Amino acid sequence: MPEDSSHVPSMVTCTAPVNIAVIKYWGKRDKDLILPVNSSLSVTLHQDQLKTTTTVACCRDFTEDRIWLNGKEEDINQPRLQSCLREIRRLARKRRSDKDSAMDVSGLSYKVHICSNNNFPTAAGLASSAAGYACLVYTLAKLFGVEGELSCVARQGSGSACRSMYGGFVQWKMGERGDGKDSLAEQVEPETHWPELRVLVLVVSADKKAVGSTSGMQTSVETSGLLKYRADSVVPSRMEEMISAIRERDFTAFAELTMKDSNQFHATCLDTYPPIFYLNDVSRRVINLVHCYNRHYGETRVAYTFDAGPNAVIYTLQDHVSEFVQVVRHFFPTDSNGGQFLKGLPVSSTTISDDLKNTIGMEPLPKGISYIISTKAGPGPRVEEDSSHHLLGSDGLPKKTV
Ligand code: DP6
Repeated sequence: MPEDSSHVPSMVTCTAPVNIAVIKYWGKRDKDLILPVNSSLSVTLHQDQLKTTTTVACCRDFTEDRIWLNGKEEDINQPRLQSCLREIRRLARKRRSDKDSAMDVSGLSYKVHICSNNNFPTAAGLASSAAGYACLVYTLAKLFGVEGELSCVARQGSGSACRSMYGGFVQWKMGERGDGKDSLAEQVEPETHWPELRVLVLVVSADKKAVGSTSGMQTSVETSGLLKYRADSVVPSRMEEMISAIRERDFTAFAELTMKDSNQFHATCLDTYPPIFYLNDVSRRVINLVHCYNRHYGETRVAYTFDAGPNAVIYTLQDHVSEFVQVVRHFFPTDSNGGQFLKGLPVSSTTISDDLKNTIGMEPLPKGISYIISTKAGPGPRVEEDSSHHLLGSDGLPKKTV
């Protein structure tokens, strides 16, 4: 951050990715520090398809911290936002006093304006808090010149956000300490490690999710015996198996662990009292479709996973993408806007055999799926070098979008 006392705001813009867990985080042992009851592991999705962009500006003339999310001003006093702001400012002060005590620290007391947008509709029901907090923390750190380990700061915004601080395949080690200093995200392999791996987000037409993940997981911690069993006796060995499946690019092992872990997470939701239902009828049809498809070929070619909502995220390999997309089109036909059905990375068109249709044997469900986002693993947060992409104008207010 420039040390001058200019009236022109200093500004940084960054982008950060969404991640989708294949070993789920569900349950906190410390609600304030956001420390989980088990480790988790995710794939960072490519920012060309799904990303959050955040601009942070600071200026001596700003009178208060302010934040705008997707065009609307929000309350900056939310405790999780405050934790992230406080932590980054603390680290910036520490860094300056460690490095060079003569350095000007006055800029650190300036107020900030934050503006953040997603390139995907919030209505798509995709976990936007992970990309959002990762982007906020990364951008604040760049503006204030903070370097080094930042996943433990992003974690305090939203647990899953710590995994969006890295690209590729990322584990969040639960840690043991009470202060959370060892509860960190770590890259297992970079995004280039498994180029054949592809991701399809099947956006299910649905209302807003009934129970948010924060309150849902808290009720699970309080009432589900299955959650305790899962955290103590299932996840530790599953993490090891998942890491070796990824390292060896063993799709069968990766896919089966992914599906089993999604199923156990949703079983935990059902074991919560009162129970939590995130899957709907379309989700269950997708589960059935995937198992029938794999059975038809006598091998595991496709895997599903579901977070705190009905959308399915499909992991598959390049060779099977076009056929599986065609299967989805066939069993969830749309009206006429066929072109709009598939967004993101192009998928070549193909036909499916009657034999395959018969083994799946499901009655097509028109409009069950609104659209598909086709993507792959991608890199972690980045600085946006082009200043024309700043979301705030030189007056420190959101630019008007046309
Ligand atoms: C089902 O990270 O949204 O997506 O820490 O309370 O903000 P908070 O919860 P959040 O929970 C994500 C839950 C999940 C599984 C996962 O991403 O691992």
